[in-house]
Amino acid sequence: MYDVYKIRKDFPIFNEKINEHDNCFLDTAASAQKPQRVLDKLISVYQSQYANVHRGSYTLSENITAMYEAARHTVQHFLNASTAAEIVFTRNATESINLVAATWGRENLKKGDEVLISEAEHHANMVPWQALSEQLGFTLKYFALNNDGSFSEEAFLKQLSPKTKLVSFTAMSNVLGTVFPVKKIVTHAHEVGALAFVDACQYIVHHHVDVHDWDCDFLAFSGHKTYGPSGIGVLYGKYDLLLQMPPYQYGGDMIRTVSFEESTFDAPPARFEAGTPAIVQAIGLAEAIDYMQEIGLKDIEHHERELTQYAIEKLNSIPGLKMLGTAPGKGGVFSFVLDDVHPDDTSFILNKEGVSVRTGHHCAEPLVTKLGYPSVIRASLGLYSTKEDIDQLVAALLKAKTFF
Ligand code: ALA
Repeated sequence: MYDVYKIRKDFPIFNEKINEHDNCFLDTAASAQKPQRVLDKLISVYQSQYANVHRGSYTLSENITAMYEAARHTVQHFLNASTAAEIVFTRNATESINLVAATWGRENLKKGDEVLISEAEHHANMVPWQALSEQLGFTLKYFALNNDGSFSEEAFLKQLSPKTKLVSFTAMSNVLGTVFPVKKIVTHAHEVGALAFVDACQYIVHHHVDVHDWDCDFLAFSGHKTYGPSGIGVLYGKYDLLLQMPPYQYGGDMIRTVSFEESTFDAPPARFEAGTPAIVQAIGLAEAIDYMQEIGLKDIEHHERELTQYAIEKLNSIPGLKMLGTAPGKGGVFSFVLDDVHPDDTSFILNKEGVSVRTGHHCAEPLVTKLGYPSVIRASLGLYSTKEDIDQLVAALLKAKTFF
């Protein structure tokens, strides 16, 4: 039985009042709060187990190397990857995408090729491809969504062609909450000989991911959104692909041999982890994944689905509120505007009432601009979110309406 009030107690930040109100945190899509056991893990590793990894033949270094590599195995099992060597630790999902653009992309894309992404991509999955297309001369194409924000197979297939070398797309929109049919998109991509890259940043916080079932070629997510520390991200890549890719950065821990004349490079994943990695953050991420898995991804999903329904009903009952993104099965991300009240003014009032939401274009400026707004308010759910959070949000929104 999912006891959200018990789960909430795992997160010390909810003991804090915000502007003398209960801490109503509805910005998990930007970054999630951390359970005590993740915080404890970070402190205990730094306090009593810390050293560098892969470099020392002394007990501390050997032990922490084992913990760091165990974290890689935790991520492997979390994603159902075939081997831990398919898991590359990065700084964040942005770096994971940039890594693939700078290595696989630079080696494989040329004039005449096409990269296909959705109009709902986060800047992290748009700007690297834009910049690379300017340098290499390939064409960056976009597929549109339906008016309700749902995936349009027709629009997607219209843009897909034998020229497409890569389809890179979010599994869940950070603005609209739309959940994309990942397996279907990957299958279509493979039918034309393209690779498929899944940005799972939002999706993985709420749903079980299975890279084997999806058959995606690459996948990225960030630790800080999955209740883990910031400064750690993951790139999953099929091993054969990783093996063909050149290094992303050069330095210590990624080489096989170095002479004054030349160097040879280690196999993946070490090839892509130059320098001292985010050791403790990787271990913290594994702790966060264990935490999510102990609660149960299915139960998290069920709780959030019910709460999403509740939030949609409550928010739609507010006169003058326009919700952006109403795709069937959408996840717990609600972007909206209030008639006659600027989003910045709204969030000012919400903050005074203890409600934390994000305002702006949510790093998806082309999408938000296309929808006709310079800025929108976004509330988003996490595994600790409650009906009381939604009620506090709705009460604060009603207050904002009377204020302006
Ligand atoms: N990508 C994060 C968001 O959508 C920061 O808010």
